[in-house]
Amino acid sequence: MHRDIYFENVSFSYGTKAIFKQLDLHLPFGKNIALVGENGAGKSTLVKLLLGVYTPQEGRILIDGRDFSKMSGEERRRIFAAAFQDFYRYPLTLRENLTMYVGAGAAEKELQRVLAAMGMEQYMSRLDFKMGKYGEDSMEFSDGQWQKVVIARALLAKADMLVLDEPTASMDPISESNLYENFMKIMKLNSTLIVTHRMALAKYADVVIALQNGEVTGMGTHEELLRENAYYRKLYNEQSAWYK
Ligand SMILES: Nc1ncnc2c1ncn2[C@@H]1O[C@H](COP(=O)(O)OP(=O)(O)O)[C@@H](O)[C@H]1O
Ligand SMILES: [Mg+2]
Repeated sequence: MHRDIYFENVSFSYGTKAIFKQLDLHLPFGKNIALVGENGAGKSTLVKLLLGVYTPQEGRILIDGRDFSKMSGEERRRIFAAAFQDFYRYPLTLRENLTMYVGAGAAEKELQRVLAAMGMEQYMSRLDFKMGKYGEDSMEFSDGQWQKVVIARALLAKADMLVLDEPTASMDPISESNLYENFMKIMKLNSTLIVTHRMALAKYADVVIALQNGEVTGMGTHEELLRENAYYRKLYNEQSAWYK
């Protein structure tokens, strides 16, 4: 099984607004990939096309040589687990929030592992607390904590590829970057697509894809792009002050 992903001649528009024009793109399986670009570059649209939320008006997206949108729901869930910037805070228990993709029978050991990966091991004893303000045996989470829950939920699903579309946008860049470094290592992730407009995350990737106005302007390692790609260098330099 390869699971390599190919966008072939993909065109997509919102109404009359063209986002991608005959895009060809290869996303290698077995690598940690960062998709970077300014706000509005088309990153989330690319992810939604990949996950079959939207269908290209032209061209196709193949995984393992097959059209993802034609696979069964079960197979699709085995291939991708995703977390997005916009998510819903379910007024359920923490356990229910975490096991939404895998079912309530998830092993305690697995829950422990993902909570530890997200730096939330202290909540292991409160898995059956209800999320929200309900009184005893309930607890409220901050935005940052919720964002970790959403990533933990996707980690727990153990799909072939983890797709994260800026679920940590409200964290400060340094906490975010430390968080990713930790869970990537603890979970031994080697097939991820991390979408971000924050360049620090690109350093952890094997392959970085720079997206500008719906076009792939560069693909390579962080160092290669920094050397060879003016757009990438500009994005990086604009943000480097955050990390000093
Ligand atoms: N549902 C939509 N309808 C119309 N335009 C949209 C919609 N979603 C996104 N866009 C527009 O498409 C462009 C790309 O958006 P998006 O893929 O969200 O970029 P990114 O994730 O890189 O910030 C932006 O100009 C955005 O305003
Ligand atoms: Mg986006």
